[in-house]
Amino acid sequence: VRKRTVAGNWKMNLDAKGARALAEGVRARVGTKRDVDVAVVPPFVYLAEVARALDGSPVRCGAQNVCDRASGAFTGEVCAAMLRDVGASFALVGHSERRHVYGESDELVNQKVQRLLESGLDVVLCVGETLEERRAKRTETVVARQLTRGLAGVAADALPRITVAYEPVWAIGTGQNATPEQASQVHQYLRGVFSGLYDEAASEALRIQYGGSVSPANAAAILNAPDVDGALVGGASLKLDTFLPIIEAPRARAETQP
Ligand code: 13P
Repeated sequence: VRKRTVAGNWKMNLDAKGARALAEGVRARVGTKRDVDVAVVPPFVYLAEVARALDGSPVRCGAQNVCDRASGAFTGEVCAAMLRDVGASFALVGHSERRHVYGESDELVNQKVQRLLESGLDVVLCVGETLEERRAKRTETVVARQLTRGLAGVAADALPRITVAYEPVWAIGTGQNATPEQASQVHQYLRGVFSGLYDEAASEALRIQYGGSVSPANAAAILNAPDVDGALVGGASLKLDTFLPIIEAPRARAETQP
């Protein structure tokens, strides 16, 4: 049984004061809650301060992106070792906004995965189809390719450090979330692909988060859908009164108690 994970991707929002206040608010409320893993994902420039605000709490801090190279003359980039140095414990890779606004390829995403693992950071690998691809019934082909290429060369012993996030592009920031059935279907499919890449046990252990217009109104239905192990929340993670109810969404099935 997989533990639920709820992460807030702040994207390019907030300022220093707002970031610190939000992190402190999440920390205060999550406190010693142990039945859900909670994380926040601030912009690079606020990472150190947010990580400090969360120090000693179970709330994890992650980065939204990472450079595909380890160090050196790459002006404007931030490498995995730096993220780790300032207190991040994971990074998102392959977010749809990176793929579609900045043209990141599966190969680039794979390099980023490798750099994170080399630096001892965990990975949240994001995959998801566009509306056009869904309409053309290419969802499975697209997410299978993103998963397979994104994980190329990743050894089985690194798998406990990998989480997958299914984020259909058409659901991100649109208010049009995937239905619990749609999310389940793709998650189940991804788990099958993963099982083929590794094995059944690894695929049963893999956590797959759903992202795309998750809100307090739809969180419980989505989080309780089969094969959905958590949420990656954008807009609703920017305010405590919308993020906390998602973290605290009631459960319909028994889950791991550590
Ligand atoms: P929204 O929750 O704003 O749709 O964003 C989802 C997302 O992209 C999280 O990474």
